[in-house]
Amino acid sequence: MHNTLCDVYGMDVPIFAFSHSPAVVLAVTKAGGFGVLGASGMAPEELDKALQMISKECAGKSFGIDLLIPEKYIGSEEGGLALEILQQQIPQGHRDFVEELLDQYHVPELPASQTQDVATLTARAGITISHKRGSHLVDIALSYPIKLIVNALGVPPAYIIERAHQQGVRVGALVGAVKHAVKQKEAGVDLIIAQGFEAGGHTGEIATMVVTPQVVDAVAPTPVVTAGGVASGRQMAAALALGAQGVWTGSVWLTTEEAETHPVVKEKFLQATSSDTLRSRASTGKPARQLRSAWTDAWENPANPQPLPMPLHGMLVTEARQRIEQDAEQGGEGGGQLINYFVGQSVGMFKEIRPAAEVLRMMSEECDAVLKQMGQLVSGQR
Ligand SMILES: Cc1cc2nc3c(=O)[nH]c(=O)nc-3n(C[C@H](O)[C@H](O)[C@H](O)COP(=O)(O)O)c2cc1C
Repeated sequence: MHNTLCDVYGMDVPIFAFSHSPAVVLAVTKAGGFGVLGASGMAPEELDKALQMISKECAGKSFGIDLLIPEKYIGSEEGGLALEILQQQIPQGHRDFVEELLDQYHVPELPASQTQDVATLTARAGITISHKRGSHLVDIALSYPIKLIVNALGVPPAYIIERAHQQGVRVGALVGAVKHAVKQKEAGVDLIIAQGFEAGGHTGEIATMVVTPQVVDAVAPTPVVTAGGVASGRQMAAALALGAQGVWTGSVWLTTEEAETHPVVKEKFLQATSSDTLRSRASTGKPARQLRSAWTDAWENPANPQPLPMPLHGMLVTEARQRIEQDAEQGGEGGGQLINYFVGQSVGMFKEIRPAAEVLRMMSEECDAVLKQMGQLVSGQR
């Protein structure tokens, strides 16, 4: 399976792999796919180190980065003052609720040595990026031979599109509805990622099967790739049948050998069925598909405080989630019940841990086989 999109983006198969793990991005890129590093939670030095490693190890191959820069950011900039103002907007009742929840599940405090790390993470304000920080990350990214910058939360700020295009780097954007796709095209975005409801992470409300062909028609001839629920070659072939030129995948890499997924979460994913995810505001304040756990149950309970808007919710829960992760890692029962992570409905398909290159190869070979089979249906050879 090799099409025009492969030629344009310099990959062997039209599979984009979104991952926060640099090792997954590297493995997929080396194997002929297109790795995209999720950089939103990274400090500038971390991004620099990861891109240095990827560009060195896979010279000449194509990869990109993904940022989460919202169109509207309710914090101003990342100065101490703005952060303090945001902190003041978090109601005490919410802070008490989180503390009580952790007490109920016997999740211990973090050691004093980690207080500073948590403060830094909290300052990154719950995974979204201010324009000042975004601009700095874009500068770093553009100092490496990346081929694509993607943004997920609305139209990328004009400075990203301009600076990327000046350097011959393409810009992509995730959309969950036709009107958003049209807005992105008008803003000058080169690649539209039509993402369905079944995807892991922040999602809209329309299914992949429904949103993809509509977006394809609305933005033609801008290329579209399908995201949401694609974890096999059969699903990839279906995406191509819907008019997409390729696929954009996220969840399937979380149970690969190279993924830095929390070990307890990896195991939970392997045990989960496709009914075990939900779209909830419990982790970031915006609806995001994730594994159901005692954490999401608590936030979904109407008797409890409701999640705050982004980025306040992320700031509220950063320390709690660190505590939960540590407790789970040390075998704590409470942490094990509360811990969860973003994942799509395809989680029910993940049964074993495999190297990322093998996952890519299997997906691509299965897609080839299905396309051949379907061709035979038409030519009457069956
Ligand atoms: C753990 C996880 C984290 C994600 N974080 C981001 C993100 O930071 N930026 C982004 O554009 N998309 C993010 N996504 C969405 C992916 O880019 C992708 O659209 C989605 O995973 C595709 O659907 P799938 O999960 O069914 O493969 C995330 C997805 C997952 C599973």
